[in-house]
This record gives sequence, C-alpha cells and structure tokens, in this order.
Amino acid sequence: MNDFRLFPQRASTASHQVDSLYIFLCTVTAFFTLLIFALIVYFAFKYRRKNAVAPLPVPTNYRLELLWTIIPLLIAMVIFFWGARVFVYIYRPPRDALDIHVIGKQWMWKLQHPAGRREINELHVPIGQPVRLIVASQDVIHSFYVPAFRIKQDAIPGRYAIIWFEADRVGEYHLFCAEYCGTEHSKMIGRVVVMEPQKYQEWLAGTPAEESPAASGQKLFSSLGCIACHGEKAPSMAGIFGQRHRMSDDTVVQVDEHYLRESILDSTARVVAGYQPIMPSFRGRVTEEQLSELIAYIKSLRDPTSLKKTD
Ligand code: CUA
Repeated sequence: MNDFRLFPQRASTASHQVDSLYIFLCTVTAFFTLLIFALIVYFAFKYRRKNAVAPLPVPTNYRLELLWTIIPLLIAMVIFFWGARVFVYIYRPPRDALDIHVIGKQWMWKLQHPAGRREINELHVPIGQPVRLIVASQDVIHSFYVPAFRIKQDAIPGRYAIIWFEADRVGEYHLFCAEYCGTEHSKMIGRVVVMEPQKYQEWLAGTPAEESPAASGQKLFSSLGCIACHGEKAPSMAGIFGQRHRMSDDTVVQVDEHYLRESILDSTARVVAGYQPIMPSFRGRVTEEQLSELIAYIKSLRDPTSLKKTD
C-alpha cells in the first residue's frame, strides 16, 4: 500500500480545498510567530532599562491601536469565511451522487452499493463521481476516515450522518476507524480503491449478482407486515422520498433518510397529518442493515405505480 508520508496524498476534490486552507493557516501562524519573536528581541534591547532614567511615559497612539485591532480582525474573518466555505462544500452532497450505506460495527466497516454489491473494509468507487455516504453504527461510536479524501465522519449509534466526496485520482487509499471503539479498534482498517469508470463497471459486473438493497428492502416490507397498512390505513410509500409532507403537529418535513429512520424506529414521533399514531416501533426488530435496505426500497419507489403488493 502507500508508504509512510508526512502529508497524505490528495485524491478528492475536497482534499485540495482543505489543504489550501491548512497551508494558509500554517503560513499566517508562522509569519506572526516569527514577527512576534523578532519584535520581543528587538524591543528587549531597544527599551532595556538604563541607569538612572525615569520610566518612559506611555504615549497614546490610537492609530496604532486601531491598526493592530483591524488587521487581525480581517485575517480572522478571512479564515472564518474560507473555513465555512470548505465546511459547507464537504457536507452538501450534489444531487447526482451515488448513495453508499456505511455501517460501522466492532470491528469492521460494512459497505453497500446501490446496485447490490456488498463490501467489507473495502470501498471501490469510480473517479469523477460524487459519492454520498450514509454512515451508521451498529454498536458504539466509530469514525469513517479517509485521509487522502480529507473526510472524517463519526458513525454514531441511533442516527445517520451524511458526508460525500468525489475522488479525482486513481489509486488505493487508506481507510481508518478514527474513534477508539474497543480492543480491536486498530484493526478496523481497510482501503478505498478509486477506479476509472469503465473499470468500476467491470468490477461491479464481475461478481456473482447479489440482491440489490432495494430488492431486499421490498421483501422486508412484506415480511415485516408494513405492506398490510401502508397504502390504506397508513400513507403510501410510493414516490414519497424527497417530498415534503405536513405532519399532524402542522410542521412540514422533508422525507429523507433521517425522517424514514425515525419513522421506523420511533414510529409515532412525527406522524403525517390525517393519520393516527398506530404504527408499532421497529426498534430492536430490524438491524442497521435491514433499516438501510428498507430505506433503499422506499427510495426506489419514485414511480408511484411501482408499489405492488407481493406475497
Ligand atoms: Cu471502530 Cu475504532
């Protein structure tokens, strides 16, 4: 794999932005450190105590005081707005991103491609394609960290965290767990393989076909009995993903992964207006993986006619 290096490789669009800001911060810090040290030495000589001289009066110099207040303020503002821009970039996935579910558990990473391919401790992605990661944990807090992409996202039990990247350099990169999660935390490592789109398609096709998460989710939707109510006593799932719905408490909710997760586990937390809070909670009855499959199924129902009863 990669040799040890002081600075990780840059392999994503975000990595260049993060590094520019980082280098700017280091330069500003180094400049002022040197300036202040030089001035300390210079002033120590210039204003050293001489024999039999009364202390110098301290003159008031408003211009100087304004200058050393305003210049640092401007520099701090540059850092703030630049940092905010990079932050927003990293946490706002573009719409055409490929959704990949990431589940951390003691002590491995499980990854699920939308086309059905599952991976453990390895993630294959095409170059130049935004990839949106929906990160969850099955047990304790883990942290999905790819230094070459300059992304690190905690996997927190009980919720989804979302982050994205677009790889821009073919190669193999380290994947770490960056949060101490128990005895074998240090073994919770893997690799991310960035491939040419053509190679990625071959890789996807080159393995025995696995069921897509949406197909597994559809089976669960029947076997868990969801299908008995949804569409009749409960809202239909057809095409709801991405829509905005009014809740019984008059708030408006955007149907996304977070809302679907909550509605399955804490089913009565936010109920669509016009329906009764009668759905049982599925907390403890579905695993993180099943949860992501159910959500993949609901996402696949963009076409309202595609929800058919199966037995
Ligand atoms: Cu998982 Cu450290």
